[in-house]
Amino acid sequence: MSDLVAQLNELHKSALDALARATTTEETKAWHADFLGRKGRLTDLLGGLGQLPKEQRPLVGKSANEIKVALEAALQERQEAIAQDEMSRALSAEGVDVTLPGRRPIVGKYHPTTTTMREIVDIFNLMGFQVYDAPEVETDENNFELLNFPPDHPAREMQDTFFTTSPDVILRTHTSPGQIRAMREFAPQPIRVILPGKCYRNEDVTARHEMMFYQVEGLAIGRNVAFSDLKGVLLNFFNQMYGEGRKIRFRKSYFPFTEPSVEVDVDCILCGAQGCRMCKYSGWLEILGAGMVHPVVLKNGGYDPAEFSGFAFGMGIERQAILKRGIDDIRYFYDNDVRFLERVA
Ligand code: FA5
Repeated sequence: MSDLVAQLNELHKSALDALARATTTEETKAWHADFLGRKGRLTDLLGGLGQLPKEQRPLVGKSANEIKVALEAALQERQEAIAQDEMSRALSAEGVDVTLPGRRPIVGKYHPTTTTMREIVDIFNLMGFQVYDAPEVETDENNFELLNFPPDHPAREMQDTFFTTSPDVILRTHTSPGQIRAMREFAPQPIRVILPGKCYRNEDVTARHEMMFYQVEGLAIGRNVAFSDLKGVLLNFFNQMYGEGRKIRFRKSYFPFTEPSVEVDVDCILCGAQGCRMCKYSGWLEILGAGMVHPVVLKNGGYDPAEFSGFAFGMGIERQAILKRGIDDIRYFYDNDVRFLERVA
């Protein structure tokens, strides 16, 4: 018996020595297999228990059990110490240096079309115009017919249209069909609305023309709305948008849905009306189409032209973003090149 107990004590001591030498979790696992595993040294030693006289077996068994419990406790302690050590080594290897300056998050910014559209909308809001949302996919009826473009009328040629596979459903070529929707919703109440949004035309894309572009439509209807109101509203708009002291010019034009119709120019803000490439050396920049709402359109919208009158205008947004932000080509807007967006305010 004393022989087996001595061997157990010897095993205990050498196990503790070996454990003290283990410096990694892997090594402690190997130690466990070597001393306490199913085929380990302790099991091996206890194989001799059967040869002892019966009365000695419990005492030796108890002693072996105490050694096993003690070794397991020592293992746990060692593993915890190693884990702590491994963690602090990993932390100091990948350590965070809190004294370094932080990394700036990448912040996006608004597209110049959005910024310009918001500037325009804000100015008209202050003049009492509410935003009215109208769809981009329209009926031929709203886009043309109710705006007094009869079928096959040559004026349709001015707006080369994208048709859909559904008969009479098109992508709107201008924001003007929203006039019909607003009128039909509000008639016979007076109206003062603006309608910003996308338009589509089957255009040859050039520095000044896109197939998809934005417009802001304006519409005011009441009992005594006059051409001078249109002039006042637009002059105020240009002064707010491009700085006080602007001059505007009305040129006669033709739109089927307004009578009289005009095209409105502002004095060239880039060259101070001296003449430059942007204004084609005329000193004037063309910004929008406008006019007094045609009686037929008033009637189509639900207003009696004998009682009501109104003005409407439609302006391109990108062309104004180009002017205000010094961009020289409309094609940059929808090229999806982030360098353009980073550069433009
Ligand atoms: C119209 O679209 C009329 N609906 C405007 C109107 C509204 C007149 C209400 C009277 C009453 P026009 O086709 O001229 O008109 O377009 C108006 C503006 O949209 C142009 O001055 C221009 O700024 C912009 N625009 C037109 N086509 C394009 C295009 N392909 N690319 C970029 N901007 C365009």
